[in-house]
Amino acid sequence: MARAHGLEADLAINGGPAAVTELESPSRPKVGVEEFLELADLWGFSPQALDAIRAATADEDLGNGPHLTRYYNPRPSKVVAFEQEAAQFLGAKHVLAVHSGTSALETAYVAAGIGPGCEVIVPGYTFFATAAAVVSAKAIPVVAEIDESLTIDPEDVAGKIGPNTKAIVPVHMLGTVCDMEPIMRLAEQHDLFVIEDVAQACGAEYHGKRCGTIGDIGCFSVSTYKYIGAGEAGLVVTDDEWLYTRAQNHHDTGACWRPDRYAKERKPGELFCGTNYRMSELEGAVNLVQFRQAPARLARNRQVYRSVISQLRPHEDIIPQQVRDLDGHVGNTLAFFAPDASHAEALAEAMRAEGVKCHVFAHGGARDWHIYKYWEHILERKSATPEGCPFTCPYYAGPLPEYAEDMCPKTLDLLSRGICVRLGEWWTENDCRQIATAVNKVLDAFHQGIEGADWHDITPDA
Ligand SMILES: Cc1ncc(COP(=O)(O)O)c(C=O)c1O
Repeated sequence: MARAHGLEADLAINGGPAAVTELESPSRPKVGVEEFLELADLWGFSPQALDAIRAATADEDLGNGPHLTRYYNPRPSKVVAFEQEAAQFLGAKHVLAVHSGTSALETAYVAAGIGPGCEVIVPGYTFFATAAAVVSAKAIPVVAEIDESLTIDPEDVAGKIGPNTKAIVPVHMLGTVCDMEPIMRLAEQHDLFVIEDVAQACGAEYHGKRCGTIGDIGCFSVSTYKYIGAGEAGLVVTDDEWLYTRAQNHHDTGACWRPDRYAKERKPGELFCGTNYRMSELEGAVNLVQFRQAPARLARNRQVYRSVISQLRPHEDIIPQQVRDLDGHVGNTLAFFAPDASHAEALAEAMRAEGVKCHVFAHGGARDWHIYKYWEHILERKSATPEGCPFTCPYYAGPLPEYAEDMCPKTLDLLSRGICVRLGEWWTENDCRQIATAVNKVLDAFHQGIEGADWHDITPDA
């Protein structure tokens, strides 16, 4: 018991005067004009423009100032607005903003309960992150062939489904759409999750539905390198309330997202040790604008694609990329296959000399993280710690997949003779005509033209 000195009656708690009346110092913003000007500098504004911005903003009353996290912000969150507008654009119930496409994939896998003992089927042509995130979720990637669409081959997937398979990951590469119908059928037959990787095809549609909303979860990268985005960001998209809840847990282990942050879990599986993949308000603000531009950009790209292919002449032995939904294709790339690798290189070289920006997918055997053959992290079962998790996981039943550089020969063959032409969103009709003329000129020099057919009439089986 503390000693009494007869002074307790003075305590404010006992009715005495409070020692602190009013602090004199004004509250000042932690984040304010100077940070804003650094951003303007990053954008490349001239010193004169920076001075003008400083003069115009110096007297703004920012109160305590904004901050750059989505929670407890004095103003409406840009990340929340971004999620809402993305949900509307995509036609999805729930959209969760995260800080990269890779973190979106890992979050989706964990949300679906993918972990020790599970296999996930990914295509042999995708950015390495699709497969790496399977390993960071502690599961085993199984690599499937692609077909002439440059996306996962449903027939090969069917042969790779086994007792440990938990999910299929169709990746909509280069703005083109996967053959979702047979994939969804397989998933239903075998009770599997479908997790779409839409990092390279934001806005693409399959039979009128946006890619990323056809399977159980869609994962987007919204970054500088992608069709839409300006920094480092990603989205997890789902119509399923429970998957959304679990995705929220994984991306925000501080559990700020919960109605009562510190409450016990409402249902087993709601609370677990996740991480912090929350998107900052800076990314939210910039990507909100990027997403608002998506419809106009899609329209421009599709117009360019249609204009170019309408002027291309089909040629013998040249097979156009199979586009499963012409209306849904993003239209930022054009691809076709030559009969063999050395001829593809010769065609690409001739087209570049004509002024067409193009390359062979597996150009000259250069190491490329999009081609499974170079995923030595997986082929050699590398892991961050020496015990080899998840490749040595005791929960994994049965032999591991046999990884080898030549395990998907069809994929390697297609990429060795496939040519990719980048199409410009802002091309005029005249630009489209010039590019089509250049491609026709080179193909005419090596191949017999086919009269009376359109570019996409030519299929692998024709
Ligand atoms: C198909 C695919 N998946 C996933 C990713 C990973 O996205 P991020 O770079 O935003 O992590 C990429 C990015 O290159 C990609 O192309």
